[in-house]
Amino acid sequence: MTSTPLVVLENVNKHFGDLHVLRDINLTVNSGEVVVVIGPSGSGKSTLCRTINRLETIDSGEIRLDDQPLPAEGRALARLRSDVGMVFQSFNLFAHKTVLQNVTLGPMKVLRKPRGEAEAHAMELLDRVRIGNQAQKYPAQLSGGQQQRVAIARALAMSPKVILFDEPTSALDPEMVQEVLDVMTDLAKDGMTMVVVTHEMGFARRAANRVVFMADGEIVEENTPDEFFTNPRSERAQDFLSKILTH
Ligand SMILES: Nc1ncnc2c1ncn2[C@@H]1O[C@H](COP(=O)(O)OP(=O)(O)O)[C@@H](O)[C@H]1O
Ligand SMILES: [Mg+2]
Repeated sequence: MTSTPLVVLENVNKHFGDLHVLRDINLTVNSGEVVVVIGPSGSGKSTLCRTINRLETIDSGEIRLDDQPLPAEGRALARLRSDVGMVFQSFNLFAHKTVLQNVTLGPMKVLRKPRGEAEAHAMELLDRVRIGNQAQKYPAQLSGGQQQRVAIARALAMSPKVILFDEPTSALDPEMVQEVLDVMTDLAKDGMTMVVVTHEMGFARRAANRVVFMADGEIVEENTPDEFFTNPRSERAQDFLSKILTH
């Protein structure tokens, strides 16, 4: 693996009113790296993700993508949104569009790809997430796991530099979690740069290069999965792990 910094956060602070939701965050995600972010509910994980594609602004500090500060507006911001893919807990597919149309929309509208090219690429990606045979269906005709795989194909269709996953399996029935994690594991193996907020510790152990543990808006601990899970250093991480690993 190379160690070219792709996403860099330096002394990032953010408040929601009186709530200091990100406290002096320093984090580097290298190209090709998979960083899993874990931590208690309310610790700022989603906010952290959202600042990286500027769905949220920050109060101080700096975020850089590929050595460039995040753009604030205009075409550069649109470009940023295609460079930084996002997969949410709640799939967010367009209900009145087919699976294929959901995946081709961004490339045609934002990247100005011709329909034929966008559709050919979309079909490749739908095959890659193992759902090519559902291309003409509507989201409501698919299971949650299938819909989330469409959302992943849709993110990939923009040829992003990095994909942020915010609890991508939390809304799924248990039997559908694995098919989504398998697709994400494949992406990781293929060298996609990924930031993944998840409670799936098996995935973290298997796929992560690094685990970042957040609590109360701070990065409390950052380590290899092996070290983190067998030997958490902080009391907060020990406490968190004992709660989620024993239920
Ligand atoms: N838009 C918002 N306005 C006000 N408070 C928010 C907003 N979004 C999140 N928060 C608060 O910020 C804190 C961190 O939220 P979040 O980033 O969603 O945490 P996590 O994803 O780790 O559960 C929580 O206390 C949450 O209630
Ligand atoms: Mg969250």
